[in-house]
Amino acid sequence: MNMASNNPILVVALDIPDKKQAFDLADKLKDKPVILKIGWMLYPIIGHDGLIELSSMFNGRLFLDFKLHDIPSVIANGVVNLMKTVSFEILTLHATGGTSMLEQSVKARDLAFTNGSECSQKPKLLGVTILTSFDAVGLKQVGFGFENPNDAVMNLASLAKECGMDGVVSSVHEVSELKRNLGDDFIVLTPGIRPEGSDKGDQARIATPSEAKELGSDYIVVGRPITKSPDPLSVVEQILHVLNT
Ligand code: C5P
Repeated sequence: MNMASNNPILVVALDIPDKKQAFDLADKLKDKPVILKIGWMLYPIIGHDGLIELSSMFNGRLFLDFKLHDIPSVIANGVVNLMKTVSFEILTLHATGGTSMLEQSVKARDLAFTNGSECSQKPKLLGVTILTSFDAVGLKQVGFGFENPNDAVMNLASLAKECGMDGVVSSVHEVSELKRNLGDDFIVLTPGIRPEGSDKGDQARIATPSEAKELGSDYIVVGRPITKSPDPLSVVEQILHVLNT
């Protein structure tokens, strides 16, 4: 899979509270050109062995949405240890971890990849900026000096880029501004994507796959419209059709 085309890559969020169901769905999707997103809902019930198993089913096409944030040496060494044990494509770190945490993690990732790891391609490190669950009041409560979340997102995305990160996670409505400010090569991965006519769930700011493609998303994340469908494979096929036409 490469970033040369303008078609976004589909990421399926495997947010399923049951190991067997998660592996059954993964098995159905493994031959499709999709990436699996593993996050905090699934990891505790599959464990590291389960992660390694999913990675080998998907040839390393995993997005580990671990949203890491700790002192620089802990995160950087953890990134190396992760790369030594499992092949993956994308990992998230909180951009609010700051310059040293981000820079040291990028350096550690580069060195681990050169020295040899389980990863067949250099994994991309993406910064989490401001979670979409934050509003202006919530931001103020945690001590951010920005009037609105969008300014905080742009500030953190610039910081991530300066530190050598490959891109950020953002709402689809911020993609154009991020690409304008930080360049087309700076990866933007967007959750909150809903195929035409599907339920919004708890996502407030949504877009369809074709809108996300139009706006320039590099990766689109779709979870429940696929995981809760009686026919997940056909939902995936419909989305892939829209993205590739
Ligand atoms: O089920 P749904 O398509 O809403 O799944 C969205 C996925 O994207 C979830 O795994 C969630 O963690 C993730 N996400 C999000 N909003 C963010 C960041 C991540 O919905 N701001």
